[in-house]
Amino acid sequence: IKGPYDHFMQKEIYEQPETTENVMRGRVDASTNRVVLGGLENWLTELRRARRIIMVASQTSYNSCVAARPIYEELMEIPINVESASDFIDRDCCIFRNDVCIFVSQSGETADTIHALKYCINNGAVTIGVVNSSGSSISRLTDCGVYLNAGPEKGVASTKSYTSQYVALVMIALCLSEDSVSRIERRKEIIQALTLIPNQIKEVLELEPSIIKLCENELEKQETVFFFGRGFQFASALEGASKMKEISYVYSEGILTDDLKRGALSVVDNVLPIIVFATKDAILPKVVSSVEQIMARKGNLIIICNKGDKTWKQKKQPRNIVTLEVPQTVDCLQGLLNVIPLQLISYWLAVKKGIGVDFSRDPAM
Ligand code: M6R
Repeated sequence: IKGPYDHFMQKEIYEQPETTENVMRGRVDASTNRVVLGGLENWLTELRRARRIIMVASQTSYNSCVAARPIYEELMEIPINVESASDFIDRDCCIFRNDVCIFVSQSGETADTIHALKYCINNGAVTIGVVNSSGSSISRLTDCGVYLNAGPEKGVASTKSYTSQYVALVMIALCLSEDSVSRIERRKEIIQALTLIPNQIKEVLELEPSIIKLCENELEKQETVFFFGRGFQFASALEGASKMKEISYVYSEGILTDDLKRGALSVVDNVLPIIVFATKDAILPKVVSSVEQIMARKGNLIIICNKGDKTWKQKKQPRNIVTLEVPQTVDCLQGLLNVIPLQLISYWLAVKKGIGVDFSRDPAM
């Protein structure tokens, strides 16, 4: 079943050109610039009337919600909350009848997420499921939904489900904002960019040989790795750190780049690997300025940037900055490409350390 791959995790990473295609199939129409989601059709009036959207999920599924949140805020212009399911159920959250709650889950069976869903149903909210496993509890309990169609995810690490959740969430935002005249051009730009994503993921996968070298030369002996991202890339930092802990057993944190000046800078030295997302978007100049502060402390930088970006090679540094270059897409989709090197890094680091990547020593994962 693993075909030419050694592990399910590697197979599932490599399936992403196909799985991102599958989640869009029959839904994204680039000739009319429309997104049609059959699973939401009967609820569109209620969904478009929402006064607030709350996304609830756990771990990697939560990170996909963080990745999608900015584009919801931009396209829908209503408050968007993202909640970790366990924290959500620990509080008595105020949920109203005109709230739309989106539950995101690969398995559709995560207990905390189901618990949160039942709470929202009892409070009268309209509920959407974004689920991979058909017939699962979350898909049955929600009013309407979007299946990921990513096929079974056998490795313990969620990889292909993250990118499919991300695409599904963006598709929902595009569908619900269809009436907004002021967003027509932005929506077109995103829809056109979505259709290129599967092939761009193929391109990113070609980084694997450089990533193997990076693991051997820079990362294999390290006990801690930090990920810095902001804006659209904060979710990439969170997801990178969670894969690193879960699969490679390396202590890791995903940090808002701007929080560097609120403590993190004090632990920067010339050993600690710092992976920074510096792909092109409106806030890249702020990221560059944070990176310069890390450089001033001779930090051990690994930069994820766009292909052909010469900024980093030109920087005068006592040691070379390692760069991983990924293709460019529209800002709100860039995280779909940026996350692939992180999946490969955590996979290869685990393999080099002899860790059984398809299982976790944490029984809760
Ligand atoms: O099935 P779900 O997406 O609801 O699962 C949520 C988490 O349990 C899941 O993301 C898990 O932490 C993965 N092993 C992360 O790689």
